[in-house]
Amino acid sequence: MRVLFVGDVVGRPGRSAVRALLPGLRSGLGVDLAILNGENAAGGAGLTAEIAHELHAAGADVVTNGNHVWDQRQFVKEIDGLDFCVRPLNLPRGVPGRGWVIARDVLVVNAIGRTFMAPADDPFRAIDALLEELGTAAPRVRVLDWHAEATSEKVAMGWHLDGRFSAVLGSHTHVATADARVLPRGTALVTDTGMVGPRDSVLGMDPSIIVERFTTGMPRRFEVASGPVVFNSVLVDLDDATGTARSIERVDRLWEGG
Ligand code: FE2
Repeated sequence: MRVLFVGDVVGRPGRSAVRALLPGLRSGLGVDLAILNGENAAGGAGLTAEIAHELHAAGADVVTNGNHVWDQRQFVKEIDGLDFCVRPLNLPRGVPGRGWVIARDVLVVNAIGRTFMAPADDPFRAIDALLEELGTAAPRVRVLDWHAEATSEKVAMGWHLDGRFSAVLGSHTHVATADARVLPRGTALVTDTGMVGPRDSVLGMDPSIIVERFTTGMPRRFEVASGPVVFNSVLVDLDDATGTARSIERVDRLWEGG
């Protein structure tokens, strides 16, 4: 089985690139399941049901989230109606949505880190507890969208889950890393997949605004940048029977607009 994981989709330019590129990548690469991080898809912060449906229609079987999951307030009410959307597993108990979903016999989990991020429950323990709760009912193929800031915390999760998850795929920083590999017990790991967002930007946002924020310390509202769009993703080839990864490779494209 081949799983494509698409990095954080940023705003309208990111969504346009997904609509333009994802269907062709699905067929061209023989993708069985496509997972996409949508937490920045609505204007650069958060997600709405309408946009989630748009990404689903473009070929994302599962849409994951992160620390920006509630940035669009309406999504609090909408998420329970979206069976293909997951939010971080390690949010406080009782919040809307679900932290995992089974799609095409693949367990897809979303979790957020705690280092240099807002407080959250222990993601390591939360995933251990989930695996214990699911027991033998858990599919063999298991993919984690690991939404975290610190490279050390991200790589540590790969080792924590080596042999227990098929893939631990990083998101959140929007900067693609060059370390994709398969760990000794068969878990594919990449520290960060990257983004689908404007190339000439700071993490997808208009660079002049971000530079001004850094140079003056004055508040200014972020705006999504424009121009050519980078499309960062990773393709994981898995053994369905054992759930172990055979390979992980980066799939990076540039979309100049249509
Ligand atoms: Fe994030």
